[in-house]
Amino acid sequence: MTARPLAAAVAGHGLVDPTAPLVTADDEGFARGRAAFETLRVYGGRPFRFEEHLDRLRASSGRLGLPEPDPGALRGAAQLALTHAATSEAVLRLYWTPGVSPEGPRGIALVSAVPDWIEPARARGQRLVSLAYPRRSAPWLLPGTKSVSYATHIAAESEAKRRGADDAVLVDLDGTVLEGPVTNVWWREGRTLLTPSLELGILAGETRAVLLDLAAEAGYDIETGMYPLERLVAADEVFTSSSVREVMPVASVDGRALAGREVAVALQTALRRAAGSDEP
Ligand SMILES: Cc1ncc(COP(=O)(O)O)c(C=O)c1O
Repeated sequence: MTARPLAAAVAGHGLVDPTAPLVTADDEGFARGRAAFETLRVYGGRPFRFEEHLDRLRASSGRLGLPEPDPGALRGAAQLALTHAATSEAVLRLYWTPGVSPEGPRGIALVSAVPDWIEPARARGQRLVSLAYPRRSAPWLLPGTKSVSYATHIAAESEAKRRGADDAVLVDLDGTVLEGPVTNVWWREGRTLLTPSLELGILAGETRAVLLDLAAEAGYDIETGMYPLERLVAADEVFTSSSVREVMPVASVDGRALAGREVAVALQTALRRAAGSDEP
């Protein structure tokens, strides 16, 4: 179970008790997993790339056949929940669920503490194991959509742990590297950074977008494309990226140890700076 949120607000309604039920059992977001969501990192009280995350929420909602999210109401709910949580470093989640009639769609903002396992994991590096995840071959399975139907992503994490690793790297049936269950995946070959192309149906990570710019500024050559797992396993350095985990070094992939950390460390520092964080 995850820790209980620190604060919650419902768009258009205001602050609510974060431990109270916020959706009804007949809301399709709960009953069928047909709701969109976003997870953002809050630095110094400010959510990073809020508008970009709202845009992605809108895109996911469209693919799920949900009504358009109300950006103004979601901004208001996020601000209320953040003010109430009164913590400068936090995780903000936005949910957009179809709701029930006559009220209609419901937007929820939840603020939680940053999980305390992240910094020790960053210091250690994560062990990844590759798992087949054939979603790319079936575009109607909503690739690149951030819906609350994350049971298979959680199952991938659990399977990785069952195999003695920390997390998974998902590959298509032909061995093409895709992404992690909740991260984008990167590696370094000499001075070149590689990450799978969005054309593969992976999630367009907001952190991925920022890191592409920061890595270019730092003088790395960058390639995005379609790559076999062998390229990743043979890399000089591997890391993952997400809003909450930020830049996470990888210590091994499929049992092959990876000692390289230079880009992961440099980009983590650059990311915190770009986010206006007080913490290096
Ligand atoms: C499948 C998947 N890929 C990538 C990411 C990273 O996206 P972001 O950097 O926007 O957090 C996530 C984040 O939750 C994800 O669920």
